[in-house]
Amino acid sequence: MSNKIVLLPGDGIGNEVIYAAKDVLEAISEKYNTEFEFSSYDIGGIALENHGVPLPDETIQACKNADAVLLGAVGDPKWENHPSDLRPERGLLGIRKALDLYANLRPVKGFPKLLHASPLKEEVILGSDLLIVRELTGGLYFGQPSERRDNGNAVVDTLSYTKKEIERIVDKAFQSAQLRNKHLTSVDKANVLESSKLWREIVEEKKSEYPDVTVEHVLVDAAAMKLITNPTQFDVIVTENMFGDILSDEASVLTGSLGMLPSASLAENGVGLYEPAHGSAPDIAGKGIANPIAMILSAAMMLRFSFDKNEEAQAIEDAVEQVLNQDYHTADLKSENGTLVNTVEMTQLIVDAIKQG
Ligand code: IPM
Ligand code: MN
Repeated sequence: MSNKIVLLPGDGIGNEVIYAAKDVLEAISEKYNTEFEFSSYDIGGIALENHGVPLPDETIQACKNADAVLLGAVGDPKWENHPSDLRPERGLLGIRKALDLYANLRPVKGFPKLLHASPLKEEVILGSDLLIVRELTGGLYFGQPSERRDNGNAVVDTLSYTKKEIERIVDKAFQSAQLRNKHLTSVDKANVLESSKLWREIVEEKKSEYPDVTVEHVLVDAAAMKLITNPTQFDVIVTENMFGDILSDEASVLTGSLGMLPSASLAENGVGLYEPAHGSAPDIAGKGIANPIAMILSAAMMLRFSFDKNEEAQAIEDAVEQVLNQDYHTADLKSENGTLVNTVEMTQLIVDAIKQG
């Protein structure tokens, strides 16, 4: 049985890292005798270029017919001053909505070898291992109205959720906590926002269904502070779309670099999409120096969640760790005495480690 994977390279370094993931999956395919069938479609700036829209219908259809989707990154400064519906980012938001990818899982785990690459003190990061469960299809990113008013002199964005939308992400977070260290931190701004008050009520309602999980509520400003002062207190964090966007970039410093942070975006019963948490990084795009590890680890998450291939996923994660332990690093990971490698070299090292593993 072949597994149909749609590749959405997107823009900037998305193009470079996605082929790294494909090479790694091909190594897995050879070693474990599983077949992957790849096809590629446009999204983001490249789709605007080729089709005049950031998310062509054929891209949506291909994703719906796939077994899983791998996405690089979207965003290109060229489209910066265009109206919101003609911006690359709209393609990403559109595919998340079209596939109903409500649950974005962002695991943040420091690799021992990279402790020094973080701006935080090693003793602060040591032992941190957390999962951010970010709501991905509602909240401030999607609420209507969202528009300029009064001839541009006023503006409105809307943070809206239905009870159902909050319940399903909270359930996902409780279930994720049950598979980990059974502690859930719900992050909100319930001292100010009505949406957060409902969010908190729902977490309180749900907790009796998961008696093995301990729950606490933390306000988002305090959570931002605790993430860098005492990250080991967290296991699973569940939060609204935009809070999750901000906190996950912040949490990425625990791993040494945003270039290390993978993610899985899951639907209730549909195709999953896997993407690095980083963006298209126009400043380094085309130079061949991007860190492919977030994308490669996203492919491992795909094997685990969409194809139930735990051994294969583990083989990728072990290979990454092994290469880091040998002191290889890309430019985003500071290192005093390691060997600096580019995207292609890092990928090859990981591929070799898989083959030998
Ligand atoms: C992310 C990105 C996207 C987001 C952007 C590119 C729209 O920052 O996946 O975290 O905000 O969700
Ligand atoms: Mn982000």
